[in-house]
Amino acid sequence: MSAASPPPALSAVVTRLRAAGCVFAEDEARLLISAARTPAELTDMVDRRAAGLPLEQVIGWADFCGLRIAVTPGVFVPRRRTEFLVRQAIALARPAAGPAVQAGPRPVVVDLCCGSGAVGAALAAALGPVELHAADIDPAAVACARRNLAAAGGRVYQGDLYEPLPVALQGRVGLLAANVPYIPTGEISLLPAEARLHEPRAALDGGPDGLDVLRRVAAAAPRWLAPGGHLLSETSERQAPAAAAALAGSGLVPRVARSEELSATVVIGTRPARS
Ligand SMILES: C[S@@+](CC[C@H](N)C(=O)[O-])C[C@H]1O[C@@H](n2cnc3c(N)ncnc32)[C@H](O)[C@@H]1O
Repeated sequence: MSAASPPPALSAVVTRLRAAGCVFAEDEARLLISAARTPAELTDMVDRRAAGLPLEQVIGWADFCGLRIAVTPGVFVPRRRTEFLVRQAIALARPAAGPAVQAGPRPVVVDLCCGSGAVGAALAAALGPVELHAADIDPAAVACARRNLAAAGGRVYQGDLYEPLPVALQGRVGLLAANVPYIPTGEISLLPAEARLHEPRAALDGGPDGLDVLRRVAAAAPRWLAPGGHLLSETSERQAPAAAAALAGSGLVPRVARSEELSATVVIGTRPARS
């Protein structure tokens, strides 16, 4: 921050954030102070945070898999638990024998329902050169993902699920990461206000049992996956059996992975090598 006028003291920011109900007021105050370029911007940021905007939307970025992912207002904030999906995808892309990425052409990675593009960015950072494609229905998310995926050469499309993807990708996708909305409609009202009020409903609401979008993704996945390719999607622990059944119903071989540490569940569907 420039020294044109003295910044509000850290303690004043902490007090304001605490009064607004921020549990990690001290950490957040430090982040806001380091993100603001001027005292006026700091005041504005503190106001927006105190009004309930997610911290990441206020400072403009989220830490995800060690990367700084740009997050703009109205775009879903990548969650720490989704790092588990990334880890699972990386493990699948690397042969068990060693850490090297498989030789041959660049792996084809699709980040469907990409939001900020955090998942695609993390996969590209971990896997080295990949052919990266991402898509989302929300223009704000698409604009944000274009920023985050530019360095990896990612192409970002706007539209409903697979509809905007190039047809030439059919049968070629090695990793299809789809962190779709999966909150059951009836549980949206139970979410923290930060999500309920400041993230788009379409980023959260997965229909009556939360699996409407995943079922649509699963139904078309075999057409897009390469033989042996994998679809990965986050669910709740409770939803996992029904989600795995949806994957199996579309001809994929399902598996459920769980991290207690991150409180994360990922369903993985693999297209059989011969199908
Ligand atoms: C839970 S957010 C996940 C975002 C991102 N993948 C992440 O992990 O941070 C779900 C995303 O799906 C997008 N979405 C919802 N319905 C969609 C659809 N029919 N087609 C494409 N994207 C959709 C939303 O706009 C939102 O960005």
